[in-house]
Amino acid sequence: MNTLQSAVPIIDVQNLTVSLGSTAVDAPALVHELSLQVRPGECVGLVGESGSGKSLTGLTTMGLLPEGLHVRAGEVKFVGDDLTSLSNAELRKLRGAELSMIFQDPSAALNPTRTVKKQLVDVLRAHQSLSKKEAEERAVVALEDVGFPNPRERFNSFPFQLSGGLKQRVCIAMALACRPRFVVADEPTTNLDVSVQEGILNLIRARIESDGFGCLFVSHDLGVIGAVADRVMVMYAGQIVEAGPVESILNNPQHPYTRGLIDAAPTLHSTKDEPLRPYTAVRPKMSPTRPASEMVPVQGNPEHTVRVSLETRGDTND
Ligand SMILES: Nc1ncnc2c1ncn2[C@@H]1O[C@H](COP(=O)(O)OP(=O)(O)OP(=O)(O)O)[C@@H](O)[C@H]1O
Ligand SMILES: [Mg+2]
Repeated sequence: MNTLQSAVPIIDVQNLTVSLGSTAVDAPALVHELSLQVRPGECVGLVGESGSGKSLTGLTTMGLLPEGLHVRAGEVKFVGDDLTSLSNAELRKLRGAELSMIFQDPSAALNPTRTVKKQLVDVLRAHQSLSKKEAEERAVVALEDVGFPNPRERFNSFPFQLSGGLKQRVCIAMALACRPRFVVADEPTTNLDVSVQEGILNLIRARIESDGFGCLFVSHDLGVIGAVADRVMVMYAGQIVEAGPVESILNNPQHPYTRGLIDAAPTLHSTKDEPLRPYTAVRPKMSPTRPASEMVPVQGNPEHTVRVSLETRGDTND
């Protein structure tokens, strides 16, 4: 067991079931008996198709479930505290300071009417007793730390004046400004141009290593997960169907759903004559009691070939 695996988890989710409508046992489960742990300095990738429950899992670890959804069973422990039993006021104190989130769409995450400076200063002063001047200095450093070019000159920019990649760097600066211990990154590169994606992935990876926070990295893209995560958990229809170190899941997937996902991904080695193999799952009926072993959804193509390769981790570069 390596040092990462032996460390005490910063987030420990046990048997989490999230249901729609009510807490009654027969309410439809959107996330079913899910367990996961993230340790300090570790990046755990959560991968699965649209609607599989990745974002709901991430939001639950922030105490941010949307209205109408409930934690029906299980615990979400953050250094010993069960987040599901904290009050909104207690959760607000933790979010932005100890727990933070990077979202898919930086344009929606930033306030369009406030400058970069004001938004960063707001976050810093909400959680730390800093004067305006001190907070401004810390904000410059926070921008430098995410590779934002010339922060002093561009401090007064509004979000619409920045490219997508720079807006996401501002969001990452805001998420990490107060040195959180646990961060959920929910598809942080999905809305970005491919030329910018790699720089953002490298930045997140570098900050996990330098700052030592635990990260739950959500994506539908196994190639992205391969570039950033240490371990991967594959989610299907609200459940974890397979989990393990990223190399072994990508090179030796066991569950048919994982094999289908890997097989459906085009690679640089694919030729134009080679048809893309769409992943067509037979979606199992949602049931609060259906075990993951009964979800064997792949149609055809049992002789899979693994074609997703691990990316090389490089330097931050937009
Ligand atoms: N506020 C809500 N009310 C009702 N159902 C919801 C709500 N939010 C999510 N769901 C349902 O829960 C399931 C899981 O949603 P979730 O957003 O976690 O999926 P996801 O894996 O993040 O998908 P994507 O890759 O598209 O972001 C889906 O069936 C979705 O329709
Ligand atoms: Mg989602």
